[in-house]
Amino acid sequence: MIEKRQNQVYLAAVGEFVERSFAAAGNRLVPLHLKRTVDWLRKLHPAADEALLVAGMAHDLERAFREEEVYARMFRSAGAFRDPAFLEYHQRRSAEITDAYLAARGCPAPMRTKIFHLINHHEVGGDPESDLLKDADSLSFFTTNVEMFVTVKTRESSPAKVRDKFAWMYERISSPTARRRCRSLYEAALARLDEFVAAGEPAETNGKESPP
Ligand SMILES: [Fe+2]
Repeated sequence: MIEKRQNQVYLAAVGEFVERSFAAAGNRLVPLHLKRTVDWLRKLHPAADEALLVAGMAHDLERAFREEEVYARMFRSAGAFRDPAFLEYHQRRSAEITDAYLAARGCPAPMRTKIFHLINHHEVGGDPESDLLKDADSLSFFTTNVEMFVTVKTRESSPAKVRDKFAWMYERISSPTARRRCRSLYEAALARLDEFVAAGEPAETNGKESPP
């Protein structure tokens, strides 16, 4: 019981840190995506421990401290949103920022180690809990991010790169249950993208950026 209460303290603290960090960056969408990731984690795995929930809440923290030149390079790269070097950078930097915050708050080392590992694998998974985080991230992505990707990211990269991002976010889901729940969200995202492209061909700017 004490352990649970302690962990809830870290979840609440990280939630506040997320709100503060993204507010300073002028970004309201990522905090919503992070909260929905926690919601999906609880739905997919009601026994999720607080370390897993903290990882869900913090997994994209790097985007509040974004290094613009890294993002510009990613948008121009052939792989764009799924560029392996970018994904590795994004996972690790989010893990490092979260870990520095938790260390300053006195979070116990075993919990910090677990959170670091989960965030550092949230794009690719590789073990049951990292896979859960990845699946919840995908479900949350289709719940919160589609409209922004369709209307903003198509211009920053291209419609083809956004379509590829949608396909990857769906296809990387490990759990058959999560994949089943995501199917209609994925299909709706593709339909929205088709509708947007049909209404007027977006320009390819390949690199100009805006949140998140
Ligand atoms: Fe995410």
